[in-house]
Amino acid sequence: MKTIRKIKNLKNKKVLVRVDFNVPVRDDGIVDEKEDWRIRAALPMIEYLLEKEAKIILISHLGRPDANRKFILDTTVDSRLHRNDNIAKYSLKPVADRLEGLLNREIKFIDDCIGDGAKRAVEEMRAGEIVLLENLRFYKEEKENNEEFAKELAGLADIYVNNAFSVSHRKHASVHAITKFLPSYAGLLLEKEVEILSKAINNPKKPATIIVGGAKMKTKVPVIEYLIDKFDHILVGGIVANVILKAKGIDTGKSLIDGIDIKEVRKIDLASNKLYVPVDAAVCNSQKKEVDLRAVGKIGDNKILDIGPETGKLYSKIIRDSKTVIWNGPMGMFEKEDFAFGTREIAEAVVKSKGYTIIGGGDTIAALDQFGCIGNVDYVCTGGGAMLEFLAGKKLPGLEALE
Ligand code: 3PG
Repeated sequence: MKTIRKIKNLKNKKVLVRVDFNVPVRDDGIVDEKEDWRIRAALPMIEYLLEKEAKIILISHLGRPDANRKFILDTTVDSRLHRNDNIAKYSLKPVADRLEGLLNREIKFIDDCIGDGAKRAVEEMRAGEIVLLENLRFYKEEKENNEEFAKELAGLADIYVNNAFSVSHRKHASVHAITKFLPSYAGLLLEKEVEILSKAINNPKKPATIIVGGAKMKTKVPVIEYLIDKFDHILVGGIVANVILKAKGIDTGKSLIDGIDIKEVRKIDLASNKLYVPVDAAVCNSQKKEVDLRAVGKIGDNKILDIGPETGKLYSKIIRDSKTVIWNGPMGMFEKEDFAFGTREIAEAVVKSKGYTIIGGGDTIAALDQFGCIGNVDYVCTGGGAMLEFLAGKKLPGLEALE
């Protein structure tokens, strides 16, 4: 991968940087300090470009708005026509405010990512200035990987940098098509994340353990399938565990199973002695709404909402003795104190592990943040879906485009 560090002279160069500022924005239009980790992760790249006296143009998406704003090159169309709740909810303006606070310097926010406004703002830029353009996904062409749209974006700059590992699994215009129109490089964060994850899956220090929990089983089957040969232990929790238990023919009562076709799950070597499933669980009786501990296999009419203490003990020992630990997806419904035990137990084992620890996925990060131990993990990956695809050995379109 070509990295931006190879370019010696960036002075006065217009550098278009694809970042991932997809962060939660509060109803009062503020990005909470606790939720700004993706913005913080991009700071070294921005500071590097500031040092090099480049003109920094930041582009990002936020959420999944209805792309009702058509790709209109006729910019005489009154932009107010496009202002609606969608824009109020998904604008990057709150991110510009947060970034300004973090960098302690002015961020010029432009309420469109293409068109005359964006062009003018870029033309007026001086070295060391930063512009943040409005949400790329207000245009449906972004998700369609539309070349005309990509060309419009590319027209704003001299160089393109992908610093958004977390969106590199999307074949979108600002990640993929754009690389056809500008000299394109990997940013510092992208380079770092690819390096750390590649090393962890291709050359892990052994014993190596991956913990897979949460929901979205469809995205997790390929990870387990791919890593079961390379890793020593696969520990499962959450809905992932429910589905695996069911696929193994073990009764899971009324537990959620994510609607995945069990045939898909059977692609995993379910009999492997590397695959660990919970031996006990915290359940909720759906009628009485009571919390109870049950051995797996004796769940009855209840719903599994967390791993139990025996499983916690078993998993913790494996994690503490591992030299590589990767974790994506909580063990249970950690948002409720009654079912936070398992995720907390695993979080404590991860931070106490002597091995190199990597976590990723919004819920896992939120959980570690809630337990106050996120600072003790070796690496917090910015990617959720992208991390899972990478761990499944898939080629990410955004990375391929840079090759
Ligand atoms: C993420 O939150 O994982 C990235 O920002 C990608 O967002 P997406 O899943 O909406 O493409």
